[in-house]
Amino acid sequence: MILIDGKEISNQIKSEIANEVRKLREDSGRSPHLAAILVGNDPASETYVFNKEKACKEVGMSSSIYKMPSDITEEKLIETINFINKDEEIDGLIVQLPIPKHISVNKVIESINPRKDVDGFHPVNIGKMVLGQASYLPATPFGISMLLQRSNIVTEGKHCVIVGRSNIVGTPMSILMSRNHSLANATVTLCHSKTQHLTEICSSADILIAAIGKCEMITADYVKKGATVIDVGMHRVADASKKSGFRLKGDVKFDEVAPLCEYITPVPGGVGPMTIVGLIMNTLKSFKHDIYE
Ligand code: GUN
Repeated sequence: MILIDGKEISNQIKSEIANEVRKLREDSGRSPHLAAILVGNDPASETYVFNKEKACKEVGMSSSIYKMPSDITEEKLIETINFINKDEEIDGLIVQLPIPKHISVNKVIESINPRKDVDGFHPVNIGKMVLGQASYLPATPFGISMLLQRSNIVTEGKHCVIVGRSNIVGTPMSILMSRNHSLANATVTLCHSKTQHLTEICSSADILIAAIGKCEMITADYVKKGATVIDVGMHRVADASKKSGFRLKGDVKFDEVAPLCEYITPVPGGVGPMTIVGLIMNTLKSFKHDIYE
């Protein structure tokens, strides 16, 4: 069993990005700038946004956090987005999800300028991705693709089973893995809450991507011997021995699944750090006008 060290791989990529950012700053006099809007005070979302800001600092990028109260109106939120859309010094804009129920997530995402949509959630970017055109790829699927590539895991011709069809992870991951590209070309099965024979399908996977949002749901009977298992889950479980009062677990029951795998990602230290790298990479692409003129 080989543990895929997402932390280490993300550090390598961040140091490559830092070198590029340094040169770009020397040439242009400014650094790529990521803006994040955080609505409310969900502790997990606060941590994610804090980690995104920290990663920007590490690679020499600028960042701003716009904190909004949980009772902010949809209009006010969209007004802020429009303001950032027009700011020429800001290259990337994300709205940390989830947002409160009284605000339409679709309206919010659609109000982000697709050129600054470094989360890759805007219908324009999703549409381009589906068609195989250049676009910002959603950060988690992008991060997982880089993780597979840097770990030399062959995807071509393999059966990739994805569990979970969210707009953020499962659905875009299924598109990326099935693309006609040497780093993809997998045969993809996308499973969800209505899938029949889930255990059977999962245990036929060469690459199993768990993005269900259910703590430790994937047990040994879901996994074929020699499979690669990618765990997207992130669950806070109470643990009095930790300073924070919790520890993180994934969608995969690691201790019983790991011995079966050829490759597996841990939680924490697997997919999480790579998601942030995906976001940073997109912000750099925006700065360089790689996707849009
Ligand atoms: N919430 C969970 N994952 C993500 C993500 O990748 N981007 C944003 N904006 N919110 C999230």
